[in-house]
Amino acid sequence: MSEPRHFLDLDRLSTGELRRILDHARALKAGAPGRALAGRTLAMIFEKPSTRTRVSFEVAAQQLGGHAVVLNARDMQLGRGETIADTARVLSRYVHAITLRTDHHAKLLELAAHATVPVINALTDASHPCQILADVLTFEEHRGPVAGRIVAWVGDFNNVARSWVHAAMRLGCILHVACPPELTPEPELLARARAEGARVEVFAEPAAAVRGAHLVVTDTWVSMGDADGARKRRLLEPYRVDARLMELAAADALFMHCLPAHRGEEVTAEVIDGPRSVVFDEAENRLHVQKAILAWCLGEIGADPMP
Ligand code: CP
Ligand code: NVA
Repeated sequence: MSEPRHFLDLDRLSTGELRRILDHARALKAGAPGRALAGRTLAMIFEKPSTRTRVSFEVAAQQLGGHAVVLNARDMQLGRGETIADTARVLSRYVHAITLRTDHHAKLLELAAHATVPVINALTDASHPCQILADVLTFEEHRGPVAGRIVAWVGDFNNVARSWVHAAMRLGCILHVACPPELTPEPELLARARAEGARVEVFAEPAAAVRGAHLVVTDTWVSMGDADGARKRRLLEPYRVDARLMELAAADALFMHCLPAHRGEEVTAEVIDGPRSVVFDEAENRLHVQKAILAWCLGEIGADPMP
């Protein structure tokens, strides 16, 4: 039996595969027919809350001719100690793909190791690849190819930021990260990204990171499961994205935020509700890009041969 095509992180796919998914997402959005899930079922396991991911995947499954079963981990035997491995084996007998949102990336890897159907990362403590593929789709719809363009991440170096590093590795954008020294990216990640040719620079000063950027991105200062919220809010106070900071970016710079947002905290209302903000296009594009991810996982889009 061939290995299932898991969608775990952007850096696990080749540039060609990511490009094919993005092309397919654009085609589906433009009205091309997609039936990748016809007669099939998607199981979606959530250990944490979700609005966009849950609804967009459920609608994606339905629009692709299939059906989604949404599972709150607390209501599953998983919550009473059944192993991830057994859960993976059992669900693989019923459904054709599984999404997982979890606090521990290791659980995602364990699910994928034991599932015989594709597993999709619907956010972990380490990364959020579906979001960043939707963000790339959004940027390219508005401004053309992301390769060679400067993306400035301002704020906590979190799961969403980590997937931007993976995007820099595969899709050629130049990533500027502005964050407090206490919340800086892991040196191993930076070293691996740079060894693969990614252009990633870390700045302590938001102004230095944003100057000339084509896209400014932020996210909540306190992610789901973060234990040190008060400390993070204190450290991140100088990293709020406001109109003055946006003025330093390129004249046609866009603003993105994966949502949910906290106006007045990581971003001012003036910026997120202003003309450069494309946050609701990003949210919409989760649907289109996830339909394409499901099609890739289920073999409707060609994969590169395994190395
Ligand atoms: N951006 C995002 O993943 O939103 P949800 O937490 O609502 O799914
Ligand atoms: N970094 C945020 C993203 C939410 C979609 C979190 O993990 O809570």
